[in-house]
Amino acid sequence: MRKKLIAGIGLALVAGLALSGCSARGTSGSDSASTEIKKGDLIGVALPAKTSQNWVLAGAAFEKSIEDAGFKADIQYANAGNPVPDQQSQISGMVTKGAKVVIIGAADGSQLGSQVKAAKAKGVTVIAWDRNILNTKDVDYYVAFNNYKVGQLQATALLDGLKAEKGSGPYNIELFAGSADDANATVFFNGAMSVLEPKIKDGTLKVTSGQETFQKVQTKGWLAQNAQSRMTDLLSQYYSGDTKLDGVLSPNDTLARAILTATKAAGKPNPVVTGQDSETASIPLIMKGTQYSTIYKNTTEEAQAAIDLVSTLAKGDKPDTKIDKTNNYNGVKTVPAIELTPILVTKENAVEAYKGNDTLEELAKKG
Ligand code: BGC
Repeated sequence: MRKKLIAGIGLALVAGLALSGCSARGTSGSDSASTEIKKGDLIGVALPAKTSQNWVLAGAAFEKSIEDAGFKADIQYANAGNPVPDQQSQISGMVTKGAKVVIIGAADGSQLGSQVKAAKAKGVTVIAWDRNILNTKDVDYYVAFNNYKVGQLQATALLDGLKAEKGSGPYNIELFAGSADDANATVFFNGAMSVLEPKIKDGTLKVTSGQETFQKVQTKGWLAQNAQSRMTDLLSQYYSGDTKLDGVLSPNDTLARAILTATKAAGKPNPVVTGQDSETASIPLIMKGTQYSTIYKNTTEEAQAAIDLVSTLAKGDKPDTKIDKTNNYNGVKTVPAIELTPILVTKENAVEAYKGNDTLEELAKKG
């Protein structure tokens, strides 16, 4: 098996070299070899629509880290109205312009197979960033936070918050997940459910609506209005009269605020609500105790990790990647990953957690 694999890689290498006429430096086990990367080369960064603040921050973070490392940047966002075809043509355009690396935060991780295949055929190094690219071997690396861990931390926060704020159980809760076209959404949800399921089974938690599968609790497009209207419907259908809603698993801050808007409009007491991203609009809510928790994933560090990886490849060195099937299996391949560690934030540790990030630290201190 191993022999076959090595032979396979060898063959692919030879084929890739024949095609690109280049050295094998930077090759990473995908079907085609990557062209050598040099300082001054063009790096394409294709980001999804700005559905949450982290994506807005990502553009600026990449611009700086790419320039500092001595490469040239081509950074593009998919248009919110038409993200998939838009991103597909942006990636093809980057390859045509001669990018040696494309870094992709996928709008839809399952819709980029032919674009990354074409990129690899030209020797381009393909890096999935923050979100994995699915069902293709033509992705060399994945740079992201440990997303399963994000889900586990969210669930742990929900349990802690319920205990701290809602007395002894059992607790009535509802579950929300992200958008099905984002490969992360199921990973967050599975991580969270690994912690919550035993508590649902033993009766500590009750999902009043009975909506417990990803299919039922997903939020199309990660859009606030979709979470808000689902929460409004759940409240009117399942929480009339005296039925209390104690907590909500929310996969990010944008959706957490939408959920809180719905519970407030329905005149319900503030439930314990989780989040993710440490968005500036959520920090004041966390400090006031309206939103219970968030997750800190430093976008600048995440962009820097991708560019450090490119610099390592440009030096001809082997990057220190991790094979982590739970987080990084894309349907056909566990993509070698640079995995960063997410931090759970509540009002108790916010000031400490945001040290070094002036904007967030100041917001946390303000309370
Ligand atoms: C990111 C989250 C973000 C979500 C919605 C996910 O892929 O990892 O940080 O909240 O997309 O944009």
